[in-house]
Parts: sequence; structure tokens; C-alpha cells
Amino acid sequence: MGESVTDQVQPDVVEALKAALGSAVLSGVDIPARNEQDWSTLAPVRPLAVVRPASPGDVAVAVGICHRRRTPVVPQGGLTGLAGGATPIEGCVVISLERFTGIEEIDCDSATMIVRAGTPLEAVQRAADDAGLFFALDLGSRGSCTVGGNLSTNAGGNRVIRYGMMREMVLGLEVVLPDGTLMTSLNKMLKNNAGYDLKQLFIGSEGTLGIVTRVVLRLHPKPVSTMAAMLALNSYEDVLKLLAAMRSGLGPLLSAFEVMWSDYWAVATGEVKGVRNPFSANHAFLVLVEAQGSDAEADPVRFQSILEKVVENSIVVDAAVAQSLSDVKAFWQTRDAAAEFKQVLGPHLSFDIGLPVAAMDRFAAECRETLLRDVDGCRSYFYGHIADGNMHIIAHVPARTPQPIARIDRAVYDLVNKHHGTVSAEHGIGLSKKPYLSLTRSPEELHLMRVLKQALDPFGGMNPGKVFDPV
Ligand code: LAC
Ligand code: ZN
Repeated sequence: MGESVTDQVQPDVVEALKAALGSAVLSGVDIPARNEQDWSTLAPVRPLAVVRPASPGDVAVAVGICHRRRTPVVPQGGLTGLAGGATPIEGCVVISLERFTGIEEIDCDSATMIVRAGTPLEAVQRAADDAGLFFALDLGSRGSCTVGGNLSTNAGGNRVIRYGMMREMVLGLEVVLPDGTLMTSLNKMLKNNAGYDLKQLFIGSEGTLGIVTRVVLRLHPKPVSTMAAMLALNSYEDVLKLLAAMRSGLGPLLSAFEVMWSDYWAVATGEVKGVRNPFSANHAFLVLVEAQGSDAEADPVRFQSILEKVVENSIVVDAAVAQSLSDVKAFWQTRDAAAEFKQVLGPHLSFDIGLPVAAMDRFAAECRETLLRDVDGCRSYFYGHIADGNMHIIAHVPARTPQPIARIDRAVYDLVNKHHGTVSAEHGIGLSKKPYLSLTRSPEELHLMRVLKQALDPFGGMNPGKVFDPV
């Protein structure tokens, strides 16, 4: 190969796109500022054009035009990604799925839904609910993130403990390949072992192998009962005991186990507007436990009796139990508050590391100390989907511009490496975690990733430079 994609950009790419797709193409002063960056800390980049196709065929046309001119393409969904996967690169054309939205079909017999990639997650959840079913993926940015973005990052979120990640909820998809070929594979069957399971290539590959246009989602029965409690604990040892008690007591009903360290809790309940703290005393750990079941009479009784046991055993020192769905929502606001930290703390870094469950608190203590020692004035806050082995860290130096990103990253990822964790359990690699990918993936794994990229995208035009570099 040897030639970079941008060397060969031909000047007429924007004109060619406009000739083929008309008003779906925005260029010059018409490029919306929102398409210049995502929720990562990376600086905005102005693309050559933003294409907003209204059909899979138009996505294919746009990608084909760019491919023939060796113009790099950057796919965009809801732009809520935290690793920069949707941030434009110099000289690229952005292809945003924002106008390709809506539910095309709900099949109650196979419990599936065909969704356009630009549809916001919350609209998918609502449509499933209206049909008497349940779409299980849930995360704080549900109102803005799109199903295409959820798929390309293999989103996790709040209910992985029960339903798995996005990968477990996708049965089929349609994708535009890097050369503009449209591959429609809208499989609805739970079992389909006819050759390679090609959809897996596009799930979690952050738009580097193609642009997903439509998805077949797997739905679940709508829960009849939802129980939730906010629990206060004194030690991480007790958090682990609580997790074991909830797992064995609730079995498959356990739908969330979200842990918040006291530093996170203080900001979430003390500084983020509209978040209620059900406790008056301070506690070392707060755990939001949620269970969903199919028996409105028996489930709450069972939930209550497990709670009584963990209080009797002094594993839990204080408890608030939701009495209504509005209480459940209020409890979740303590977790959704993470998305508001930018407003109250200002610019910060957000991590989604993975670690063995037992190592979490030791890691948090070491990380807090290391950051304080190595990065003057650095504050850090810990919380996450602990039962999934996934911890979030928010770190920043208050009132410092720019933030010492490289030093904070290095300190955190060296510790992750020491504890045999992963640099990304949830948000992906994008651009911002690229320098650290090799801490988590072996040379053999990285080689195979490059072989796949080369096979599907030999010119390297599809979201170039994201996740890893070609050589
Ligand atoms: C969360 C997002 C940041 O769990 O992944 O809050
Ligand atoms: Zn998360």
C-alpha cells in the first residue's frame, strides 16, 4: 500500500456527493458545529462535509463516492462516545445517521425489532415497552446515544449483569462496507450457525470496518415487577458479601448492582442538581441494587426478605427501599448523575477500566494515591458496574486548562496493567485510548485485528486511525 488515504483526495468529492445526494450533504458554513466532535475531550475538527443520508442506499452511495476518491469517512451516531471514535479527522467526510431513524418492525413472536441505526436508544426502549416487550440495554446517555453507536461500541451500561452487552442483543444487521457495498443480513433467528457470524465483526469495532444502517434487536419479556434499594456499606469486603447474597438470593432476577465510592457519591448527591441523597450520614460505599421479575406479588416479598437478611448480618448499615417506580427512578439518578459531572467539575477525564472484581477497591485506593502523588492537585472519583468487573473513574485537576491528560492516563493505565485489567471495559478505544491498547491486547491479537482491517478496508478509508494504526 504505502499511500495514505489523504494523499489522494480529489477535489470534487463534495461536489460528487452533492450531485448524488443533494441537500443531504452539508459543507462550508452549513456544517453544524455539533458534528465537529463527540463527548470525548478531543478538540473539534471540521470535516470536508457532513452527509446525512435518509436510507441505507444513500449511505452506500456516499461511502462509494468517498471510497473511489480515497477520501476518509467518519461515521457518526449520537456523538455521546467518550473515546473519540466519532471525532472527525482532517480531510474526512462525516456520515451521520441522525436522519435515518425509526422502528421498521416489531415481531412479537420472535421477540425482535428492526431498527434504523440513527434511532436514539430511549426511543427503542419505549417502542419495545409499547409493544409489551423489553429492550434491555440501558445507559445514562439513553436520550442522545443511538442504536448504531451502541452497536459499534458494543455498549454495556446498567443491566449487563442480567442481559449481557449489546452483542447479546443483536441478531442481525445491515452494513455498508468500506467500498460502498451494502450487505443486508437482517437475521431474526436466535440460532443461525450457517458459516461465519459476520455481524460480530461490526459489533464493537467502532466503525472501522463499516457503517451499520439497520439492526435486528433481540427483545425480552417486559418485567412485571421492578424492585430497587439503595444500600450503604462500610467496607468493600461487605460489598462483595452483598453481591454474593444478591446473586444467590435473587438468581436471574438481579438486574443491576451499581457501586459508588463515597467520593463519587458526595459529588453526585451534593453538587448535581435534582439528585436526592436518601441517607443523612456518610458511608464508605453506596450500592444500587435492582431486581426485575415476573411475579408482582411474590417478587417484592422475596426482595424484602433478602434485604432484611443482609441488614441483620450487618453487611448493610443503612437501606432505602423504593416504594414506587418514581423512587426507582430517583435512585437511578444517583448513577445517571455521572453524565452531569462535566457541568459541576468542568473538564475531566473519564475511564472505563476493567479489573477482577475482588481487586477493585485496592485499585481505587492505589489509583487515588498515585494520582495525588504524580499529578499535582488531581482529584478522582470512583464508581461503576462492579459486578461486571467494570469500574469508572473520573479524574481531573480542578480549574486547570488544559488538563494534564497524558500524565493522568499514564498513571491510571500503568496501574490497570499491574492489576491485569483492561483499558476499556465499555467505551471503546477510539482515538484517546489508542496509545494504551497494547497494554491490554497481545501482539498476536493486534496482528489479527490489523489483518481483518486490511481484508475489509484495504485502502484504510473507514474511520481511519481509530482503535489502532495500520502498521
Ligand atoms: C456510566 C457511563 C459513563 O456508566 O459508562 O456512567
Ligand atoms: Zn458505564
